[in-house]
Amino acid sequence: MLSLVACELVLAAMCLLVLGVNLWVLLNYLLKIDIPPSIPHRMRFRILYYGFQLMVTWGNILERLRICTMPKLCQILQDLMNTKRNCKVVVTDLCFEEVPVRLFQPKATSSSPRKGIIFIHGGGGILGSLDSYHALCSLLAQETDSVLLAVGYRKLPEHCHPVGLQDCLCASIHFLKSLKAYGVDPSRVVICGESMGGSAAVIIIQILLGRPDLPKIRAQVLIYPILQTINFQLPSHLQNQNVPFLTRDFMITCILRYFSIDPSWKDAILTGAYIPQDIWMKYRKWLSSDNIPQRFRNKIQQPEFPGPFNKSAYLELKNLLDEGISPLVADDEVIAQLPATLLVSIHWDVLRDDVLLYKKRLEDQGVPVTCYHVEDGFHGCLFLFDKIFSFPCCWDIINAIVRFTKDM
Ligand SMILES: *[C@@H]1O[C@H](CO)[C@@H](O)[C@H](O)[C@H]1NC(C)=O
Repeated sequence: MLSLVACELVLAAMCLLVLGVNLWVLLNYLLKIDIPPSIPHRMRFRILYYGFQLMVTWGNILERLRICTMPKLCQILQDLMNTKRNCKVVVTDLCFEEVPVRLFQPKATSSSPRKGIIFIHGGGGILGSLDSYHALCSLLAQETDSVLLAVGYRKLPEHCHPVGLQDCLCASIHFLKSLKAYGVDPSRVVICGESMGGSAAVIIIQILLGRPDLPKIRAQVLIYPILQTINFQLPSHLQNQNVPFLTRDFMITCILRYFSIDPSWKDAILTGAYIPQDIWMKYRKWLSSDNIPQRFRNKIQQPEFPGPFNKSAYLELKNLLDEGISPLVADDEVIAQLPATLLVSIHWDVLRDDVLLYKKRLEDQGVPVTCYHVEDGFHGCLFLFDKIFSFPCCWDIINAIVRFTKDM
């Protein structure tokens, strides 16, 4: 009798907890977020974001309880959303230098070698996997008639920087060395990266510039990439800080975890208080808000950047200033050697201005740039293209990638 009462009490407490968490997420996020005015299917967008926040919040709760980490829970749930296979491509799971990769080859025979695409998915080091991007990779391989290599780089919670990047580099080099075996034309290899994968794509291309023994990369396709970890006070960081799915808060969470930085340094990163004046003087010409065209600027006053210098923050965070992780601040000579580029920027994205700054840097150095600026999209939309919760912008971006890649 007593145990029955105890059971009921536990059950009631659990129901209350679940209800409480749901309500908390609802109030805290749904009422606080900004939905871009130009997004269609606004209810769909809200529901989707509610689900996403619920996932992250439960992940954080389970992590506190030491049951499962937040990244792990997100990965398990995301992989449940897997979609059907595409029967027009041959899919092979392989390991390149111990990195899991998936090769997508069009089934139709081709009389000449095909284009190659190295695809690096996004997800902030937390989300994304070979399975969750399977449908997208199949589609890209089929539509562009290319051999596509998707890299299943290692992620959080087990692996932080630089493991994922090294995985991408090793797998790319292995692929470039074995193009012949996969029927790929060495003069037509494109690297395509989304979000954090976009950053990896550029870094890899920059490293490969010093490898004349390997085929030269023909083009880079960067889909709403993060390209620097220095100035987080650009107009888009402030304007779009509460716009899903990459709110400024979630972005900084990803960065702290990916670089295994203690959360107490969050403010120093956001305000730039760890950046010494002389380093800022060097980067200012590339990273200051003054380089953002007027129509993208805030009505809100831009805060002074960087904030008052904090030396202990500098000693702790100086690695973030490294150009090896911020490809936007590579030297002019490096930028000038980069291949033709497709940049996809999203108007309502915290990372929008990274793309605008990069566009200027590439153009100033004479690199051919094709821009695709999306007004009715949001960060991370690409992943949803074949889901029930799809948006027109997903297909618009895919079409832009296909058009650009076909021309290469
Ligand atoms: C520097 O930043 C840290 C972390 O935000 C803070 O605890 C500390 O008081 C700051 N030091 C100075 C001198 O402002």
